[in-house]
Amino acid sequence: MLSSEPVLSHRCYFVMVIFFAFSTTLPVCECHRPSLNNFTDLQALLSFKDHLSSDPCNVLGDWNTNTSFCNWIGVSCSKHRQRVTILQLFDSSLQGIITPFLGNLSFLRLLSLANNSFHGHIPTEIGQLCRLKLLTLNINQMNGEIPQSIGNCEKLKVLSLSYNGLVGTIPNELGLLRELKRLYLGRNYITGTIPPSLENLTRLEELALEENQLCARYE
Ligand SMILES: *[C@@H]1O[C@H](CO)[C@@H](O)[C@H](O)[C@H]1NC(C)=O
Ligand SMILES: *[C@@H]1O[C@H](CO)[C@@H](O)[C@H](O)[C@H]1NC(C)=O
Ligand SMILES: *[C@@H]1O[C@H](CO)[C@@H](O)[C@H](O)[C@H]1NC(C)=O
Ligand SMILES: *[C@@H]1O[C@H](CO)[C@@H](O)[C@H](O)[C@H]1NC(C)=O
Ligand SMILES: *[C@@H]1O[C@H](CO)[C@@H](O)[C@H](O)[C@H]1NC(C)=O
Repeated sequence: MLSSEPVLSHRCYFVMVIFFAFSTTLPVCECHRPSLNNFTDLQALLSFKDHLSSDPCNVLGDWNTNTSFCNWIGVSCSKHRQRVTILQLFDSSLQGIITPFLGNLSFLRLLSLANNSFHGHIPTEIGQLCRLKLLTLNINQMNGEIPQSIGNCEKLKVLSLSYNGLVGTIPNELGLLRELKRLYLGRNYITGTIPPSLENLTRLEELALEENQLCARYE
C-alpha cells in the first residue's frame, strides 16, 4: 500500500533519544456513534463519488446501487455489520475534493487515496475516524493545513501526506498518535518547527519531513 511512496525516509532520531519503553495502557476508543450504520456508509460513499470532478479511467464505474457497496471497487466491509472498513483507491487518476462525509465511515481502518488529483482541504471530520490505522493521501494536490483533529485517530500507525501543497505548521496533536510508526509529511509547504510533542511518538520508526520550510529547533 505504500508502494507509491517514493519519499526518502530516515530513522527518527527522537526514537534514539527516548530509551524508555512506556507500557502505557491506551484509553480505549469509544467509537460509539449509534446514529451511523450501513445506510449512512452508503450515503458517505455516494457523497465521495459526488465530490469527484473527474474519473477518466471510470474506476468508479460499478459504484451504483445495483450492487451492495461492499462489492464496489476499492471498498471492503466487515462481514457481520456490512460496515466499510477499507476505502482504497490509490493510483486511480481521480480528481475532486474529499467529502467530509467520509468522517461518517466510523468503521474505517484504512483510507488510501494516494497518487490521485484530490485538492482542497483535508476534512476535519477525518478526526472522527477513531478506528483508522492507515491514512495515505500522498501525491495529490491537497492544500490548507493538517487538521488538528487527526490527533483523535488514536489507532493511526501510518500517516502519509507527502507530495501535496499543505501549509501551516505540524499540529502538536500529532503527538497524541501513540501508535504511529510512519509519518511522512515531506514535499509540502509546511512551516514552523517540529513540535516537541512528537517526542512522545515512541513507536515511530520512519519520519520524513524533507522539502518543507521547517526551521531547526535547538534545545
Ligand atoms: C442495474 O441492473 C439492471 C438489471 O440488470 C440494468 O438493466 C441496469 O442498467 C443496471 N443499472 C446500472 C446503473 O448499472
Ligand atoms: C444493513 O444492516 C441491516 C441491519 O444490521 C441488515 O439487516 C442489512 O442487511 C444491512 N444491509 C446491507 C446492504 O448490508
Ligand atoms: C501514479 O498513478 C499512475 C496511474 O494513475 C501511475 O502511472 C504512476 O506510476 C503512479 N505514480 C507513482 C509515483 O506511483
Ligand atoms: C455525515 O457527515 C456529514 C458531513 O460531515 C453530516 O452533515 C451528516 O449529518 C452526517 N450524517 C450522519 C447520519 O451522521
Ligand atoms: C507527552 O505526553 C505526556 C503524557 O500525555 C504529556 O504530559 C507531555 O506533555 C507530552 N510531551 C510533550 C512534549 O508534549
